[in-house]
Amino acid sequence: MPACCFAATRSWISHRPSSELVTRQRLVARMELSLTRPDDWHLHLREGELLQAVVPHSAKHFGRAIVMPNLKPPITTTAAAVAYRQSILKALPPDSAFEPLMTLYLTDNTSPEEIKLARRSGMVFAVKLYPAGATTNSQDGVTDIFGKCLPVLEEMAKHSMPLLVHGEVTDPNVDIFDREKVFIETILAPLLKKLPHLKVVMEHITTMDAVNFIETCSEGSVAATVTPQHLLLNRNSLFQGGLQPHNYCLPVLKREIHRQAIVRAVTSGSNRYFLGTDSAPHERRKKECSCGCAGIYNSPVALSLYAKVFEQAGALDKLEAFTSFNGPDFYGLPRNTSKIKLRKSTWKVPESYSYAAGEIVPMFAGETLEWSLFDD
Ligand code: DOR
Ligand code: ZN
Repeated sequence: MPACCFAATRSWISHRPSSELVTRQRLVARMELSLTRPDDWHLHLREGELLQAVVPHSAKHFGRAIVMPNLKPPITTTAAAVAYRQSILKALPPDSAFEPLMTLYLTDNTSPEEIKLARRSGMVFAVKLYPAGATTNSQDGVTDIFGKCLPVLEEMAKHSMPLLVHGEVTDPNVDIFDREKVFIETILAPLLKKLPHLKVVMEHITTMDAVNFIETCSEGSVAATVTPQHLLLNRNSLFQGGLQPHNYCLPVLKREIHRQAIVRAVTSGSNRYFLGTDSAPHERRKKECSCGCAGIYNSPVALSLYAKVFEQAGALDKLEAFTSFNGPDFYGLPRNTSKIKLRKSTWKVPESYSYAAGEIVPMFAGETLEWSLFDD
């Protein structure tokens, strides 16, 4: 029996005579999913007013989240991570049990001692590798992974502290659509040869190359998070009817064959893949301008979209492992014990969310989605 409870309830709605029933009956299929409360293993919560605006959306759907450290300035120490955690807790709605799991931002100067402090804190669960210049607020990231960073990575391997990888090379001569593939070939594969005991999460994978690579790695040592956008959209979505800034994120959306490979991998039931939204809010004006920021805000729609992907693949029985089991199992954390329910009933995604400093436009703004969260 799959742990996921997939209940399809059908009820006949009609008060007409039975002869008409045959021709006029309407079948109402009411489908409900009961899932162990999911976690988000890759989330940007930001700071200040933006943090206050977005954290309730994550807290409503998810039990825990791995919180990205690419603030300005970045979270490079355990002390900063602990302070940031406090500000997240303060921004939560009353009675929320949402738990932020903190991360450190790796630099060429991070010390092995910092890893010991992080582990001892009980509040820091991973270290994020941004190749310097790869994405938003990554300018302080790593330039010398095989040199200056090696002692830190060795220390992480000792403590089973996962390295979370933004897997793109930054060489401007490499085509942007090839940067993940080249990263795997020139950085990740050699790194894992050097440090076979390092636990790695390939964040927000976008290519069949990433899927193929993960399948060659030993189980429990390399895993991947997958976003709703990389499961549902391909690179055409960036240009559909004109430039679509709200579909722009990094790594950038890829060709349809890559999307299909990721969907197949995730819906196969493999425990190497788990939910990580990479929800990355930016104020509307920072997206809709002459040099728009990378990042898709998907926290309010993510669960609905993951359910859609698994349903389309005929794999709803595999959804719960992806949303709620594979992540904590990889991190060595307990699975959540509470449940959430999704019901197949339509709802309209808001055009935007207003907050003190402006607006945030969510993924699929204004569109109708089929799966919705509901409380009894
Ligand atoms: O699209 C993205 N936005 N990709 C990242 O790696 C960073 C993120 C952000 O912080 O906005
Ligand atoms: Zn991210």
